[in-house]
Amino acid sequence: MKSATLELRSEAPTKHKALLKWVDKMVTMCKPDQIHWCDGSQEEADALFSEMMESGMCIKLSEEKRPNSYLFRSDPRDVARVESRTFICSVNKDDAGPTNNWEEPRAMRHKMKKLFEGCMKGRTMYVIPFSMGPVGGPISQIGVEVTDSPYVVVNMRIMTRMGQAALDALGTDGFFVPCLHSVGCPLEPGQQDVTWPCNPENTHIVHFPEERTIVSFGSGYGGNALLGKKCFALRIASTMARDEGWLAEHMLILGVTDPEGNKTYVSAAFPSACGKTNFAMLIPPKEMEGYKVSCVGDDIAWIKPGPDGQLYAINPEAGFFGVAPGTSYDTNPNAMESCRKDSIFTNVALTDDGDVWWEGMTEETPEHLIDWNGNDWTPKSEKPSSHPNSRFTAPAANCPVIDEDWEKLEGVPIKAMIFGGRRMSDIPLVFQAFTWSHGVYLGATMGSERTAAAEGKQGELRRDPMAMLPFCGYHMGDYFRHWLKLQKDLDQTPRVFHVNWFRRGPKGEWLWPGFGQNMRVLKWVVERANGRGFAKETPIGWVPRFEDLDWRGLDFSLDQWKELMAYDREKLKMQTLQHEELFLQLFEHLPKELIFERELLISRL
Ligand code: OXD
Ligand code: MN
Repeated sequence: MKSATLELRSEAPTKHKALLKWVDKMVTMCKPDQIHWCDGSQEEADALFSEMMESGMCIKLSEEKRPNSYLFRSDPRDVARVESRTFICSVNKDDAGPTNNWEEPRAMRHKMKKLFEGCMKGRTMYVIPFSMGPVGGPISQIGVEVTDSPYVVVNMRIMTRMGQAALDALGTDGFFVPCLHSVGCPLEPGQQDVTWPCNPENTHIVHFPEERTIVSFGSGYGGNALLGKKCFALRIASTMARDEGWLAEHMLILGVTDPEGNKTYVSAAFPSACGKTNFAMLIPPKEMEGYKVSCVGDDIAWIKPGPDGQLYAINPEAGFFGVAPGTSYDTNPNAMESCRKDSIFTNVALTDDGDVWWEGMTEETPEHLIDWNGNDWTPKSEKPSSHPNSRFTAPAANCPVIDEDWEKLEGVPIKAMIFGGRRMSDIPLVFQAFTWSHGVYLGATMGSERTAAAEGKQGELRRDPMAMLPFCGYHMGDYFRHWLKLQKDLDQTPRVFHVNWFRRGPKGEWLWPGFGQNMRVLKWVVERANGRGFAKETPIGWVPRFEDLDWRGLDFSLDQWKELMAYDREKLKMQTLQHEELFLQLFEHLPKELIFERELLISRL
C-alpha cells in the first residue's frame, strides 16, 4: 500500500466558542507538537494507518483475506478496563454511592492537571468531534474527544459518527461532552516511541458528572480510551438520563419479526462478556421458519419515553467492539461477517497468510501463528494465542442482519426487557416478572460469575445490578429509584424477563444449547410482551410450561426441561436473603419498593 501522510488540519473547522476555548486550554496544558482536527474521512484514516504501520504500531492484514483491516498488539499491561482506577468525582461523595470510586473533584482535577501537564510533548493532539446516536437525532448527543492516540482516532471512526458532520450538528453553541484522553507518554526530542504507549502506573479514568466531562490518562485500550463508549454513553449519560427522565443502559437492542411480519423490539442487559453480541444477532433455527432477528445494537441503549407513552431506544454507537475469542461462524456468523472487512483487531493472533485467528474461531487450530505478544505460537504453546479480552472493532453497517431502522432518529419502540447473568446453577432458563417493580427488582439483584472483560478472580459471583455496576455514574440506590419512577411517565411499560443461558448439570455439562436455540425463549418473550403466549404463575414469576415453547427441530425432552427450569425453594430463599448485602450497602438510598419486592418473593417461596 502506498503510504499517505496525514495532512494536518490545524485550523479549527468550527466557530463554536466554548469548544475552541476548551481545545486551546488543552493545547496549553498538554503541549502537543501539533494538532489535527479529525474530519472522519477515509483519506484521513488511510493516512493514520500508514503512519501507524510505519511506526510499527499496527500491521495491515492481507487485503485478500481481510480487506481494509489492521491488527494491533497492546502493551501486556494494558489489556482491559481498569475499574479500580475508574472514578466518579461528583461534588458530594454520597452521589457517587458506595459502588463507585470517588475522590473530591477539586483534588482530582489538581492531580489530573499535574499528570496532563506536557503529557503530549512530541505527539499530535487529535480533536475528534463525534455523535453518539445518528447525527441530529432527538436522543443523540455530541462529544469531542481530544487524544494523542491515533489508535483511538481510527477506532472512534468505527464506533461513533465521527468528524465534520458531528461538528456541523453542534453548530456554534450546541452542548457537547468534553472528553480528554492521553496515553501519558510524552516523547523527548529524538526519543524513539514504543509500539503501544501507555502509563499503567498512573492510569485514571475520571468522570465529573455534574460538569459532564471525562478525563482519562494512561491507558490506550478499549473503554479506557474510546471515551464515547462506557465513559460517555453509560457513566455520564446515566447521570444526564437521571436528570432528564430517560435511561442510558448497558443493553443490546434487537428486533424479532414473526412469520406474519410483525416486528417487536427487545432490549437486554447481560454483564460484560456474557454473549450480548451473540444474542443481538442470533440466527433462529431453520425449523422456526419465518422468524427473523435483526440487530439495532449489541452493547448500549439510550431509551426515552416517546410522545405515545412508550419507551423508544437508540443504539448510540456505530460499531461493535466485540470480544474475539469464542466468536466463530458456528457461534455468531453475523459478527464474523461484520468484521470480515474494514475492521480493527486488537490482541488477536496473526496467521502466516496475513489474516487473524483466535481461540474458538475455527475447529482446526493453525499449525503456526504469531501470538498477541508478537511471538511464534504453535498448538503446543502453553498460553492462548489471543488475549481472552482481545477485540474486533467492526462497523455495525457491515452486519448482515442490521435492523432497517437502526439509525432511525427517534429510535425503536421497546416492548420487552431481558435481564440475565452467567449462573451455573439455581437460576432457571427463563421467567417473567409479575410487574414493573418486580422487574426492576430482578434487574437490581442480577448476579454473574466474573469474566475477562474486567479485573478480578474469574468464576467468582459478583452482583451486577442491571449489568451497570461498573458503568452507573451515580448512586445505585438512586438509579433503582429512577427506574421505578419512570413508570409514571409511561402509558405502557415493557414486560420484564430474566434469563440464564449458562446453567450446568451435575457433571458440569451445559443444560441448554444456547446461541440460535435462544430463539425459542425469545419467541415466548415476544408473545408474552404482546399479550399472547401462555405461562404458569409460580413464586418466582410467570414461567413457560414445556408446551409453551416452540420445539420444532430440537430434540429436547420434558425431563431435560424440568431440570433446566427447576429451582430449590430453600436455596433460592437463602440467595434472596444474600441480596441483603447489596441492599445494606445501598440502604440509605434504596427505594422501599425493592425491599417490599424481596419480602414478597421470600414469602412466596
Ligand atoms: C464491553 C464491556 O466491552 O462491557 O462491552 O466490558
Ligand atoms: Mn459492554
